[in-house]
Amino acid sequence: MEQLNNVKDFLTEAGIHNPTIGIVLGTGLHQLLNFIDIKKTIPYTDIPGFPVSTVEFHKGNFIYGTIANKNIVVMQGRFHVYEGHSMEQIIFPIRVMKLLGVQTLFLSNAAGGINLNFKKGDLVLIDDHINLQTGNPLTGKNFDELGARFPDMSEPYTPSLKKLLQQKAGELNIELKEGVYAAVNGPNLETKAEYRYLKIIGADLVGMSTVPEVIAANHMQLPCAAISVITDECDPDNLKPVNIAEIIKAAGKADEKLSRLLYLAILSL
Ligand code: HPA
Repeated sequence: MEQLNNVKDFLTEAGIHNPTIGIVLGTGLHQLLNFIDIKKTIPYTDIPGFPVSTVEFHKGNFIYGTIANKNIVVMQGRFHVYEGHSMEQIIFPIRVMKLLGVQTLFLSNAAGGINLNFKKGDLVLIDDHINLQTGNPLTGKNFDELGARFPDMSEPYTPSLKKLLQQKAGELNIELKEGVYAAVNGPNLETKAEYRYLKIIGADLVGMSTVPEVIAANHMQLPCAAISVITDECDPDNLKPVNIAEIIKAAGKADEKLSRLLYLAILSL
């Protein structure tokens, strides 16, 4: 708690005041920044006590700015299990956001499409999730000032935010599919047998992030919603090798529509 409060104080002194909306930008997704009147960009390396991103294609900046009259904080680059971060480090910035005053959290990520109705470049609203990552960010002593020991997870993604995103997608004529996201450790992608398994257990898409952050948000009763960009189609009977460059390229192609959608949703909060 002391570390969290220290970082919160550091960011407040650096000029980050009363943000109400928090955003986490996933792999290859950054065009939302074009809609933000940016006031501060603080590299994670400049924030004492903050984890540091080790993936070279992930930028590591905490960004503060406004959309219309709303104060926004953005994580440009997040932390993943496969980097060697502890679960507690991964969710540290989410907790900081909440302490700074954030009341709504939007997360984005790149994901593989298990559901074969999902095509590369599709946007998928995460409806629910399956946590297959090892560890849990809430393991250890509970911080009662943040939330309850045994948080409810019956609606991990806030229904009113899901509805808002669907409504705005409709207004923009953007197709927003829905599905269950399975979180894996990575960093390797899955085998054919693993994709089959993921489908059988009820996953529509798979990725290496987001779920720890959503668990932390639910612990703090911070309303949240998450959208995935489908970057590869995980058909076990027709599986093609993929590499990270292709994943980033596929995410980049959907970045513009995702950014317009989030922008419009933020305007009406
Ligand atoms: N599997 C896991 N993570 C991913 C994938 C995938 O196929 N695509 C993008 N992130």
